[in-house]
Amino acid sequence: MNIVIPAERLAGEHRVAATPDTVKKLVGAGHAVAVEQGAGLAAALPDAAFVAAGATIAERRQEMLAAADIVLAVRMPEAADVAALKPGAVLVGMLAPYQNPLLPQLAAQRVSAFALELLPRTTRAQSMDVLSSQNNIAGYKAVLLAGQFYPRFMPMLMTAAGTVKAAKVLVLGVGVAGLQAIATAKRLGAVVEAYDVRPATREQVESLGAKFVEMPMTDEEKAASGGVYAREMSAEFLARQNELLAKRAAAADIVISTALIPGKPAPRLLSADAVAAMKPGSVIVDLAAEAGGNCELTRPGEAWLSDNGVHLVGLANLPAMLAADASSLYARNLHTFLGLLLGEGGLTLDLDDELVAATLVTHQGEQRFGAVARPAEAANHDKEPHHG
Ligand code: NAI
Repeated sequence: MNIVIPAERLAGEHRVAATPDTVKKLVGAGHAVAVEQGAGLAAALPDAAFVAAGATIAERRQEMLAAADIVLAVRMPEAADVAALKPGAVLVGMLAPYQNPLLPQLAAQRVSAFALELLPRTTRAQSMDVLSSQNNIAGYKAVLLAGQFYPRFMPMLMTAAGTVKAAKVLVLGVGVAGLQAIATAKRLGAVVEAYDVRPATREQVESLGAKFVEMPMTDEEKAASGGVYAREMSAEFLARQNELLAKRAAAADIVISTALIPGKPAPRLLSADAVAAMKPGSVIVDLAAEAGGNCELTRPGEAWLSDNGVHLVGLANLPAMLAADASSLYARNLHTFLGLLLGEGGLTLDLDDELVAATLVTHQGEQRFGAVARPAEAANHDKEPHHG
């Protein structure tokens, strides 16, 4: 197979979809690998490292793409890139399936495209789980970013010049990013509390030595809050939740918010009034910024200071800020995923394999994901995303 790795084009996207380590494995398995010139540089991987692993360096992007059997990408390539692909080519990446305007073009081009965000959260998929590998990094970086804007120490310090109090950190949403944010803030010496709508997270929070923020819930609400993923809650529930979280935020120095619901706008957890009640010098790092933000005042892609002295940090794509480790973990996820597609006889797409079926968004001219959902399905949050 001819496997190609284009350079990422999105501003600030410093990751790359392969590393010398994964290239070596692919070349060892008999594949030809071409890496676009400079693709890994921002991830601390110069062209020479890929050449040493057995790749060729491609100077002409369109020619490289036109010859590809398999394209490994971080983000969805541009329309001109898709136009260069040959029918039957395979594209694997984080293709933003819920908001990807190019899915019809991929289908028309007869590309078999895999959006790895759609991998089910099963044990078998764990080693390919790009959301986990990347959100873990985001959770870590969120705390470091908070430290950059926070005008005080994070840990408690006793010095001859006086004692400094430990920062109080509130983590909202305890998925992969939230758990790593808790662990990182604890390591820096902060006092941490955390909240998630899924009651099952309480144990995880406590096992990291943080306090779980208790929100009284009816049995119905508990059942409705979700299993692996959270679900959208009623307006009445969200209003109660916001009231409680406003109080916790007012007592906190740093808020790291990570609450997301796949395929939906991020839940609104902090209103403008809640920010207004926070102490000057507080910081909110909103990891949900790109999905609309958990905080009403978040400006996606920006960090700004509110009138009452609260830093609102909505910077995007935190994993790309740790591009070397992010790429190395992502490339391994991709390599493991490719193992599902590459058998002895070359490329085999086994649609009976649930991991293949769940991630394949376009295939043989058909758009299998995101084509108009019927109202009954749109209303049913329990179901897997609509396929077909
Ligand atoms: P996510 O990024 O979709 O959401 C982050 C967190 O926000 C979730 O914990 C969610 O419950 C929370 N949230 C949503 N609405 C909220 C609200 N109104 N208030 C407070 N919190 C709210 O989640 P992520 O990190 O992708 O993890 C989702 C689940 O997948 C977790 O249960 C995790 O344990 C599981 N998982 C399983 C894996 C596997 O078995 N392969 C791998 C990774 C995660």
